[in-house]
Amino acid sequence: MTQESSSIQAIPKTENFPKHIAIIMDGNGRWAQSRFMPRISGHKQGVETVRGVIKACMERGVPYLTLFAFSSENWRRPNEEIDSLMQLFLTALEQEITKLHENGICFKVVGDLSKFDSKIIESIQIGEQLTAENNRLTFTVAANYGGRWDIMQAVRKMLAQSSELPLNIQEESLAQYLALSYAPEPDLFIRTGGEYRISNFLLWQLAYTELYFTNTLWPDFDEHELELAIQSYQQRERRFGRTSEQIRMAISTEG
Ligand code: IPE
Ligand code: IPE
Ligand code: MG
Repeated sequence: MTQESSSIQAIPKTENFPKHIAIIMDGNGRWAQSRFMPRISGHKQGVETVRGVIKACMERGVPYLTLFAFSSENWRRPNEEIDSLMQLFLTALEQEITKLHENGICFKVVGDLSKFDSKIIESIQIGEQLTAENNRLTFTVAANYGGRWDIMQAVRKMLAQSSELPLNIQEESLAQYLALSYAPEPDLFIRTGGEYRISNFLLWQLAYTELYFTNTLWPDFDEHELELAIQSYQQRERRFGRTSEQIRMAISTEG
């Protein structure tokens, strides 16, 4: 996130199509429980949804997709569910990385990885290195991620590395250390599963993101549902603090 791309420092040039979609994939547990299946079956089905959403984003030319897979608060869940989620994450990493690479996808993980098993950390590193030069779609998984963790780690890095006096510190001095600094701020945020909250996801980066909530549970979220979210986005007027009149004027002078 550079000064030019900060929605606070300048009015970003936005297009009718979202460049960055960020999603809270919620509702896996309820999907499984409504079928009298264990919660992990919902998470497994959720991986299938991830495949479909990646494909749909590629077909539509969305350059950045960020998915919230495990929050810094999800460690509060029962150990059994955490263990199954970690196993599923490792299996998905091992099975999918080559396919992501073949499709020209750049794979990244953001979050505090220090708590993960060494096998998972190793698979993430292999995947990130293998796909680093790809540019068809940047696909980021937020794992053990929390918006407050992100801001705190950025503050710590900035204080350790910057020679600026604290009084001179500007937004961009901090923003460059945020976990998603390589991506523009999300244009469209989607949360499935009927909950209307951010759950400590991208607190800094969502400043001017358009928010879309659906009751559809993540395992049922398909290409059509994604299309509905994009259509809703396309009907929004992104004012970034200005009035509607100013926006109409800007459009008419642009020609
Ligand atoms: C989201 O689904 C996946 C993770 C948080 C890992 P949930 O597991 O939160 O599903 P619900 O909300 O209990 O239905
Ligand atoms: C948010 O979902 C985190 C992820 C999707 C990874 P949760 O289901 O954990 O969120 P809360 O606890 O209902 O807010
Ligand atoms: Mg949930």
